[in-house]
Amino acid sequence: MTKPSYPIRTERLLLRPFTAGDQAVLYSWQSREDVMRYLYGGPKTPEESAESLARKLAVTWPEKEGEHLSLAVERDGVVIGETVLKWLHEEFRQGEIGYVLHPDHHGRGYATEASRAMLALGFDNLGLHRIVASCDAFNEPSWRVMERLGMRREAHFRHNEVFKGSWGEEFIYAILEDEWRAGDRWTGSGT
Ligand SMILES: CC(C)(COP(=O)(O)OP(=O)(O)OC[C@H]1O[C@@H](n2cnc3c(N)ncnc32)[C@H](O)[C@@H]1OP(=O)(O)O)[C@@H](O)C(=O)NCCC(=O)NCCS
Repeated sequence: MTKPSYPIRTERLLLRPFTAGDQAVLYSWQSREDVMRYLYGGPKTPEESAESLARKLAVTWPEKEGEHLSLAVERDGVVIGETVLKWLHEEFRQGEIGYVLHPDHHGRGYATEASRAMLALGFDNLGLHRIVASCDAFNEPSWRVMERLGMRREAHFRHNEVFKGSWGEEFIYAILEDEWRAGDRWTGSGT
């Protein structure tokens, strides 16, 4: 396991740990109904957003299973969203990725580009064997990111939970280390 050196640079983006100065920009998307539509919970209050930032500040690299690494995604010096890598299971080397962008920055491939870097961190730096991602089946922009990343749809759960008052539909996507190594993948700084 190798902790990367930050910032991580991709073709157009810079990924780095959140700082205390990111509170306003984090709140700018966490407070939005449209951003939270397919995420657990509703739009956050300033206090909830501050608690969320404190959790992000506490982890700059997952040191044990259950920890979530959340990196700020910058484009031209502006924080446009966050990208997440969760260490789900140490013995079985399982992880999960996630992403949220401010709507002003949708439709340009930034979530896909940032997630490619997170897959590299998961496989190269954390030594994972399998990385999953899940989303509401109606969250098409999200599962389209997973498909652009070369992840496979492994499951479509129907009515496995009640989500925001209605029966939920959930997609699970995954990619194995050897599948990822065999495909086109982002390589760059950060190792
Ligand atoms: C999920 C989310 C991050 C996807 O954002 P997105 O902008 O659609 O995804 P990307 O940044 O990868 O951009 C892809 C889009 O940009 C387009 N694009 C433009 N330039 C591109 C490039 N250089 N590379 C790749 N795609 C590019 C793609 O064609 C695609 O548009 P399309 O789906 O209409 O074909 C965004 O909808 C979001 O933040 N939602 C709210 C939070 C959320 O639901 N998160 C996921 C929880 S599971």
